[in-house]
Amino acid sequence: MEKTILIFGGSGFVGSNIAFLAQKLGHKVFISDKTKKEKLNHFNFVSCDITKLETIATIIGQIMPDIVVNTAAIADIDFAEKEKEVAMRINFESAVAIAEVCYVHQIKYIFFSSDAVFDGNKSEYFETDIPSPVNFYGQTKALAEKRINVIYPQSVIVRISLVLGLPLDGGNSFVADLKNKLQNRVNIYAPTDIIRTPIDVKTLSSAVIELGSSDFSGIIHIGGLGKINRYELTRRLAKALGFEENKVLPTNSGEPDSSKARRHKNGCLNVQKAGLVLKTKMLSMDSVINNSISY
Ligand SMILES: NC(=O)c1ccc[n+]([C@@H]2O[C@H](COP(=O)([O-])OP(=O)(O)OC[C@H]3O[C@@H](n4cnc5c(N)ncnc54)[C@H](OP(=O)(O)O)[C@@H]3O)[C@@H](O)[C@H]2O)c1
Repeated sequence: MEKTILIFGGSGFVGSNIAFLAQKLGHKVFISDKTKKEKLNHFNFVSCDITKLETIATIIGQIMPDIVVNTAAIADIDFAEKEKEVAMRINFESAVAIAEVCYVHQIKYIFFSSDAVFDGNKSEYFETDIPSPVNFYGQTKALAEKRINVIYPQSVIVRISLVLGLPLDGGNSFVADLKNKLQNRVNIYAPTDIIRTPIDVKTLSSAVIELGSSDFSGIIHIGGLGKINRYELTRRLAKALGFEENKVLPTNSGEPDSSKARRHKNGCLNVQKAGLVLKTKMLSMDSVINNSISY
């Protein structure tokens, strides 16, 4: 059945990909962001700075969507560490304010969180594991999860480890950044001790749209079926993109320099629950990589 979906942060990497698939599936989509991007002209656009909390209520009240997806965030971990006040306002306060408005109107709310809520010392993390973030970005997400769960427990909290794929118009895409560096013949260093369970943005978008129409509430991990370290992943992506793997060199995450936030080493999300709840299938690493290099 056709739904009306409002996506905060809808012109970012993940948000715009969800908008693209939702529109293709026949849903009525509104994307909201601070600034309108040219390549996203075919979507209904609503300008909103989510730090202006009163605007959130106005926009949701005007559109009255069936589903609100919140992908808006300070997603840059190092920036969040430096600009703590800004990160807290967007990743925590605004995310909670959106939940409050959704609760008032009983609108399905899907909030985007991260494996960064965990310290990375366990071999894998389940939805029931207690958050213990090692950096400020992870703290903002963990606090938002906790508060959203209190004020509107019917919300859906989607935790992801690393999203691969191409952006529709800019945003935080690792694959686009890698392709750009490879095209410019820059040597790329990738750590062997940072392990993730990446998911391609197409599968993630499908899962999110499915969750929006389901009765599911609570935390759900979305990720690929395999674990991989960043070095191996970057090599495989380079090869899939048609470049030489040896442009990717191994490194170790080591101790962060003062300009960088601490990283959790093992951000592996167990996705058994997604396998039980969703018709959208979580994929093998080969399929995740293949899905990530084209639109
Ligand atoms: N990509 C990943 O690998 C990954 C992994 C784990 C979790 N996540 C989470 O997944 C979600 C989506 O990430 P993404 O990769 O799509 O990030 P992204 O490309 O940086 O998109 C975030 C969007 O939020 C917008 N935004 C920031 N501040 C805003 C404000 N004050 N008002 C309105 N919009 C604002 C940004 O707009 P501007 O660009 O104009 O500031 C941007 O369009 C985030 O919650 C992120 O923390 C992502």
